Amino acid sequence: MQITANDQTKATTMKALVYHGPGRRAWEDRPKPTIIEATDAIVRITTTTICGTDLHILKGDLPTVAVGRILGHEGVGIIEEIGANVLSFHKGDKVIISCVTSCGRCSFCRKGMYSHCSTGGWILVYQIDGTQAEYVRIPYADNSLYAQPPETDDEAATMLSDILPTGHECGVLNGQVKPGDVVAIVGAGPIGLSALLTAQLYSPAEIIMIDLDDNRLKVALSLGATKMVNSSDGKAVERVMALTQGAGVDAAIEAVGVPATFGICQAIVAAGGRIANVGVHGKPVELHLETLWSHNITLTTRLVDTVTTPMLLKTVRSGRLNPKKLVSHRFELSEMMKAYDTFGNAAKEHALKVVLKNTCA
Ligand SMILES: NC(=O)c1ccc[n+]([C@@H]2O[C@H](COP(=O)([O-])OP(=O)(O)OC[C@H]3O[C@@H](n4cnc5c(N)ncnc54)[C@H](O)[C@@H]3O)[C@@H](O)[C@H]2O)c1
Ligand SMILES: [Zn+2]
Ligand SMILES: [Zn+2]
Repeated sequence: MQITANDQTKATTMKALVYHGPGRRAWEDRPKPTIIEATDAIVRITTTTICGTDLHILKGDLPTVAVGRILGHEGVGIIEEIGANVLSFHKGDKVIISCVTSCGRCSFCRKGMYSHCSTGGWILVYQIDGTQAEYVRIPYADNSLYAQPPETDDEAATMLSDILPTGHECGVLNGQVKPGDVVAIVGAGPIGLSALLTAQLYSPAEIIMIDLDDNRLKVALSLGATKMVNSSDGKAVERVMALTQGAGVDAAIEAVGVPATFGICQAIVAAGGRIANVGVHGKPVELHLETLWSHNITLTTRLVDTVTTPMLLKTVRSGRLNPKKLVSHRFELSEMMKAYDTFGNAAKEHALKVVLKNTCA
């Protein structure tokens, strides 16, 4: 028997990637989400992807994530149903789901700090079911979804859910990247590479990419990095100082989240420079104020707000930015378990972003 899209709409269950405690995940049947608040929308997922954060959750690094939670916080889809108070979207609209849910009305949202929305923020996965499923419920749909222009590629649009705004806001904007700057990005994962792509919107003179993985460094060179440093021999600082004639870098973007890489940033930042921390740190780091106190530096931290998504969407739409280049592997949505195996072995598989498409949607 053939199942048509219409039958699928009527079904009350769907497939989803469910977290069953540390190290355990399953692609299984779950009830289809329904509207709970009048500001909700139900989105039928057409493209989604896996993030390093999903792997952290699976390892048990984020114990607040409940067993039974559907993973994923990135994706694009088609609106299936809207609550009575959703004004900007209609059934059938193509939308980009922001990884950050925001009411648009609380004092934090009014300051553009959507990540700290008093009734939203980064709640997909942490507090509510995520996007690695056939359907997802998105609260505050008017502010948490973006209309996807018809000519925009789904894979490129998926990169706007999280990684592109994260690299741009937490790395490039906080690092105040300007024309002529020398920038170093520590970590050439999807986030560091997104910082690399968006930094080029501001015409820095040099972008030095630092990582342990030669394959990722090669990708970085193909995406516009001017120099690469493999830090596996512990000599990243000396190399960057040599590349900058002893001056250091104007902006050091930390896109890993471990003490060693934060240490590199502190050692290579030039006088008057900025350290923009993007990485999520699980352990304390040493802050070397004994050397930095006189260095006129700025240190920033940020949880992505996704406030620059509309601007980034325009650059993607015009072709100025092509985040599709970050997609290394493609799967059917139903191949979710296989996609996790690939992404979980990123170094061996040369994986960056693995994209899953619901071709039945
Ligand atoms: N601030 C935010 O809002 C926000 C949002 C999303 C992700 N993040 C964080 O950004 C960081 C990067 O995310 P990602 O998905 O690109 O991660 P990833 O694990 O895919 O990439 C990290 C890269 O760092 C490299 N690396 C690891 N240790 C290193 C070392 N000692 N020296 C140099 N390179 C090293 C790895 O080879 C890898 O290429 C993570 O900590 C993630 O949690 C932050
Ligand atoms: Zn993510
Ligand atoms: Zn809010």
